[in-house]
Amino acid sequence: MDRRGFLTLAAVAGGTFALGGVSRMTGRAAAQTSAVPVVDRLVMTNVVDNVYDVFAKAGRLDTVMVQRTPLGRTGTLLAEHGLAYHLESQRGAERREILLDFSLTEKNLFNNYAVLGIDAGKADALVLSHGHLDHYGALPDLARAMQGRFRPGLTVYAGGEDTFCHRLVVTPTATVDQGQLDRPALEARGLAVVLAPQPTVIAGHAFTSGQIPRVTDFERPPAAARLEAGPAGSACSPTHFGDIKVEAKPGDFVPDLFQGEHATTYHVKDRGLVVITSCGHAGVVNSVRQAQKASGVQKVHAIVGGFHLAPAPDEIVAKTVEAFKAIDPDYVIPMHCTGWNTIMAVHQAMPKKLVMPSTGTRVTFGA
Ligand SMILES: [Fe+2]
Repeated sequence: MDRRGFLTLAAVAGGTFALGGVSRMTGRAAAQTSAVPVVDRLVMTNVVDNVYDVFAKAGRLDTVMVQRTPLGRTGTLLAEHGLAYHLESQRGAERREILLDFSLTEKNLFNNYAVLGIDAGKADALVLSHGHLDHYGALPDLARAMQGRFRPGLTVYAGGEDTFCHRLVVTPTATVDQGQLDRPALEARGLAVVLAPQPTVIAGHAFTSGQIPRVTDFERPPAAARLEAGPAGSACSPTHFGDIKVEAKPGDFVPDLFQGEHATTYHVKDRGLVVITSCGHAGVVNSVRQAQKASGVQKVHAIVGGFHLAPAPDEIVAKTVEAFKAIDPDYVIPMHCTGWNTIMAVHQAMPKKLVMPSTGTRVTFGA
């Protein structure tokens, strides 16, 4: 987070937000402000995740209902390394549907929408957490398949221009190309693309975190993540790193700081915040702290998503769990890239708060 960005966020902290979707002409979220929305109920469906466990425990917990999707006669869910959500919220008589992230492959995303009875044509907004293939992979396919069938002017919210940069993961043994999402191609299919570097209200019910200040001293972006530097002045030029000066020429692979990654949050009435990190490269604790700061709401009902701690050393996992204890959420729902190391640590520290992940899980928050 660059200093200017941080100051901008500070200016909107305490319960006021940019209102999404009102300045599509410029492609940027509006500076207009609004109070944090409060919803009566949120039904979060994990459309695609890394695992599909038909024996995962279901039922009523203290303040949430957990439902699972059994094997079906007309089709079964598919799991893959990817993440996608359907988020349906209610505020009085008003219902809203948001699709968050779009997994890796068209095959799995489309199959699971069908099995779960999700109609993308009813979506009021789309949100993309960041520019990795396991989150945007099937978005171009969805835009193609739904061209003319999405709601008119449907907006996809991204956290920054770097969402559309070429990314890779480079380890000593392999290089995984994460590809590059083509923004003009999405727009050519009729989607409006809005960048939301500041906290932004989505469809009147949810809000995005905006770009996430790194406030913890132990959360770091994955060391293997790389971004291909673009020409000076382009969205992928080294200037996207803000105050951090990077010496790079176009075509160089530079460490990826995930400047434009954002989290999606709901404020559920009488419960608190449900913070969905998606992949959490900005740090799950940083993400929760930013949602609290941006909304002015301290109570966290649930921390949901990929926490990206699978490759993390035990010390970082322990510090994360200690931070969870300080945040004191009612539930932790670790998915995708969280890692068994962290799931086991959460289970040990707060067994009653843990909801195990599985593709097809539906969690109802609120009344
Ligand atoms: Fe991911």
